[in-house]
Amino acid sequence: MDKFVIHGGRTLNGSVAIGGAKNATLALMPATILAGGVSHLYNTPALRDVNTMSVLLRTMGVVAELNDHTLTLDTRGINKFEAPYEHMKKMRASIYVLGPLLARFGQAKVSLPGGCAWGPRPVNLHIEAMRKLGAEIELREGYIYAKATRLQGGRIHFDVSSVGATGNALMAAVLARGTTLIENAAIEPEITQLAEFLVTMGGHIHGIGTSRLEIEGVADLHVSDITTIPDRIEAGTFLIAGALCGGRTTLTRVIPAHLTAVTAKLEDAGAVLHTTTDTITLTAPRKLVSVDVTASIYPGFPTDMQAQWSALMAVADGTSVVTDSIYFDRFKHIPELLRLGADIEVKDNAAVVRGVRSLTGAKVMSTDLRASASLILAGLIARGTTEVLRVYHLDRGYEAIEKKLHALGADIERVAGEEF
Ligand code: UD1
Repeated sequence: MDKFVIHGGRTLNGSVAIGGAKNATLALMPATILAGGVSHLYNTPALRDVNTMSVLLRTMGVVAELNDHTLTLDTRGINKFEAPYEHMKKMRASIYVLGPLLARFGQAKVSLPGGCAWGPRPVNLHIEAMRKLGAEIELREGYIYAKATRLQGGRIHFDVSSVGATGNALMAAVLARGTTLIENAAIEPEITQLAEFLVTMGGHIHGIGTSRLEIEGVADLHVSDITTIPDRIEAGTFLIAGALCGGRTTLTRVIPAHLTAVTAKLEDAGAVLHTTTDTITLTAPRKLVSVDVTASIYPGFPTDMQAQWSALMAVADGTSVVTDSIYFDRFKHIPELLRLGADIEVKDNAAVVRGVRSLTGAKVMSTDLRASASLILAGLIARGTTEVLRVYHLDRGYEAIEKKLHALGADIERVAGEEF
């Protein structure tokens, strides 16, 4: 297991290119199951989660190869319709194969995911959506067994807006007979890109980018290629690094419109931002000001950014409240931030962050992907040396973060191979 060793206090300056979006890629990859042929996903990030999805697709008979950020997927040989527990426990996004397998092959056996590092993450909405499309579903031995001779269009109204359930419903409905209506659909950019990809494959979808999607099912789809959108969470994480560490940081290959909730809050915190169509330049504030955020569905502040925001607020002037309205107990990073000298108290689904003058380096432990990012950010400004252990969590969602931070001027290195 690798660790990062960070000597804090360096100023960051320069530019960093943002990679393709993890969460878009994890939806686009299973979407290729819907047609037989060879697809290319350009701008695919080299991440552990992408590798996990490739391994899963290979077990079904897909040929998956990632070369220089182009992922080639050949779906002609699919002969197995199962997502085993070994994959699901590594990555919950494995559930994304349910809709496409059911729609194209009329059957799927997909493991139930169980819990997550920070609490329960149910899949009832995925299952209900498949049932609304006429699938017969049985839950036994920890698995979802789904069957349908041909899915039928139906009305799916989500009580809770869910990224994954919307993606699964979309992928199932494009091949269903008749029209499907998805109400209260997720409007995250990654779902919008999935819908656009399905259209290039021959799907008929109206209302893309809105919370009301109307899908007219087609008998079959054809393969297609796509360039993955930039990762707004990686981008947001680098913006926070820039705001914490002084200097001027430019992000390239980014879509600023996907980040307005984060950039607006950074401005409130005192940073100066300048955007073009595909760059964001952040000049760090001389004095960081405390700003409350509430994580909510897009275009609200992303839950995947709240841990990083807490790291920023840990050294801001004043007290802020970081609330998560999506995942009520996503605060595993807080005890680790306390080890670095932060003054934070968790109350219900909120972290009350009282800014301190400085943090001090220590050994801390990654518990999940975004928690790890927050610890690295804190380490960048902590006095002395911070060691972030178990960074395999980080590798799920950030490609070569240490190299990118190093290029901006950070003193961070990966120490490989020992049991930490
Ligand atoms: C996706 C993202 C994840 C992000 C999350 C919220 C991917 C691969 N992951 O996860 O990074 O943090 O969106 O933006 O894209 N829910 C149910 N029943 C369900 C499904 C969800 O109750 O069947 C609830 C969840 O517990 C949560 C809310 O719905 O409270 C939103 O979760 P959802 O949007 O589904 O998250 P994911 O798609 O799993």
